[in-house]
Amino acid sequence: MANKSKFQAIKGTRDLLPPETGLWSHVEQTAHSVFSTFGFGEIRPPIFEPTELFARSIGLDTDVVSKEMYSFEDRGDSSVSLRPEATASVCRAYIEHGMAQLPQPVKLYYMGPMFRRERPQKGRYRQFYQIGAELLGGSDAPAIDAEVIEMVMTFFDRLGLTGVELDINSIGHAADDCRLGYVARLKSALELVKDKLGSDSQRRIETNPLRVLDSKLEHEQTIIATLPRIADHLCADCAAHYAAVKRQLELRGVFFKENWRLVRGLDYYMRTTFEITAKGLGSQNAVCGGGRYDGLVELLGGPATQGIGFAIGEDRLILSLQEAGKGAAPQGRDVYVAWMGERAYATAVRAAKDLRIVGFSVELSPTELKFGKALERADKLGSRYALILGDNELSEGLWTLKTLADGTQQKFTEPQLMEFLKKAKSAAQRS
Ligand code: HAM
Repeated sequence: MANKSKFQAIKGTRDLLPPETGLWSHVEQTAHSVFSTFGFGEIRPPIFEPTELFARSIGLDTDVVSKEMYSFEDRGDSSVSLRPEATASVCRAYIEHGMAQLPQPVKLYYMGPMFRRERPQKGRYRQFYQIGAELLGGSDAPAIDAEVIEMVMTFFDRLGLTGVELDINSIGHAADDCRLGYVARLKSALELVKDKLGSDSQRRIETNPLRVLDSKLEHEQTIIATLPRIADHLCADCAAHYAAVKRQLELRGVFFKENWRLVRGLDYYMRTTFEITAKGLGSQNAVCGGGRYDGLVELLGGPATQGIGFAIGEDRLILSLQEAGKGAAPQGRDVYVAWMGERAYATAVRAAKDLRIVGFSVELSPTELKFGKALERADKLGSRYALILGDNELSEGLWTLKTLADGTQQKFTEPQLMEFLKKAKSAAQRS
């Protein structure tokens, strides 16, 4: 009978295991180090928040709020939700902690799990991980938009991500002579072609006409190409802001492509929006999305505050790195410590401790094994060296070190052994 575990991870969730988690740590360490060079500090908001926080920020008619949130009644009668994203939480924290009093702008980044009840597929999960950053307050200077984008591109570059493409757009602001006027025109244009559109797009004409531009349906593409474009309907201020963002990106050597159909799926955006795709991801190829959201803090009850940020889908980032052959190497060990006899065991325990103190990864055999068996285990674990401690080694004061790759053996005093291993390790790190 198959020995199948009764419990399995819930659909759309998964265990992240070694050696892959080594790559996750590397990505996260790189984010800590790159983001701190841009003056960002880490925030760790809670995993669940009042449902109303997300409903108000992201918008009731968005897919995320209308169908994808994990919401439940807490004991009593308040509804709470697992966070589907973290921008709303960061804005809530900015208000709650009076961060408007701090020197502006406030620059925060986060990493951790988010939850959306989407249909799972490659690169799309119900528990997924984001690395994101938000810059709040100060000003809406186009240089800020450009620097935030430069930061995420620098991060991808540092990781060696390949096939990275940045799309940008401006969706203006909510005024009649800007986005609202455009949306009204778009809606009229969509009404005229309604019969030719699929049912999702037909529904969106009423709920959120901008989202029709997102459609990936083959037969809708030629229709969408004829629709009015937002760039032709931005107010003078938003048009100037957009032009300046593009100049600022050029100044920083950041390549971009303008994409008038990039509207993003969350309601809080205004002006600059952007999305980044990478290689090897199939249909779920957006590895980062972001944009400006001046007004969100105010909408949540705080002072008028500018905001811009992005979130990277860490699962997709990892997938893309793996597809490009940048996966994590199996963990292996530097030294496997094999011993025989009570006396040798005490020395082995001390040796393992000393080696770990100076940073070697060490596997100490927990039970006494014949040396042949111990060497087999050392090999299976991917150890570079086996330290052999038996009666002979103890009485001579000379320890045996076997290099597993070529089978050679050398004898060392304890201090000599430490020196030898340190040198070998730094040589391996240099190569
Ligand atoms: P978003 O576009 O909803 O934006 O998500 C950002 C990224 O998270 C996506 O580009 C994708 O890589 C990843 N992602 C989203 N859903 C899933 C999923 N189900 N499975 C795997 N990855 C996923 C936001 O969340 C905004 N809060 C970004 C932002 C920050 N805007 C301003 N500040």
